Amino acid sequence: MLVREGDLRGRRVLDVGCGTGALAAALAERAACRVWGIDSSEEMLAVARANVPSVRFKEARAEQLPFKDGWFERVVLRMSLHLFDRPRALRESRRVLGPSGRLAIATGDPEHFGELWIHRWFPTIAAVDRERFPTKERLIDELEAAGFDSVHVDVLQQDRTITRDQALAKIRGRAFSTFQLIPPAEYEAGLVRAEAELAPVTAAPSRWLIVVAG
Ligand SMILES: C[S@@+](CC[C@H](N)C(=O)[O-])C[C@H]1O[C@@H](n2cnc3c(N)ncnc32)[C@H](O)[C@@H]1O
Repeated sequence: MLVREGDLRGRRVLDVGCGTGALAAALAERAACRVWGIDSSEEMLAVARANVPSVRFKEARAEQLPFKDGWFERVVLRMSLHLFDRPRALRESRRVLGPSGRLAIATGDPEHFGELWIHRWFPTIAAVDRERFPTKERLIDELEAAGFDSVHVDVLQQDRTITRDQALAKIRGRAFSTFQLIPPAEYEAGLVRAEAELAPVTAAPSRWLIVVAG
């Protein structure tokens, strides 16, 4: 959906907050994009470099991109926007985009928070994430303030399931950054309850905002 809505196929793309390079790899291998990835974590980039040799990775911050004005046709942000200083990061994305450039974003829809599988055992996560993830309306305002126009928003519902082992691995590995922001006692108690209560398979739907701005 990001490739289609963002018109990414074959483009020169910057993946901001690329993490271990999962999206960058898919864009290079399945959408014929020429991809650069930046991330502030050298550990994430070490995994990305080992896994995705076709993509050029650099350590950098979204708020200060090490590229010339207008260098890219597309910028993509997937599950990273909530971690940035958004006004600065969105202005930087705007700066590195050339004429007819587009920014394509996939981010969690905060209207859905509270209904995710993880919230049953870690209720504070929903409240913390509502503060971190922008609503659709707020994101449109922030994009316009950063110089974008023609903002288009779609909602994507993914109905998935997660096995008990996968769920426990995510909890034990603190796979979501929000685990760092909840009280340690809530984490410990939630882990014990999840170990006792998790079913063999759990519904794990997610709802995304897919946002494209010119
Ligand atoms: C949840 S991961 C998403 C990874 C990737 N976009 C994906 O979809 O697979 C968020 C990434 O943003 C990075 N990050 C956090 N703050 C950042 C910043 N200010 N500038 C650049 N990267 C940042 C983190 O290191 C992490 O790798």
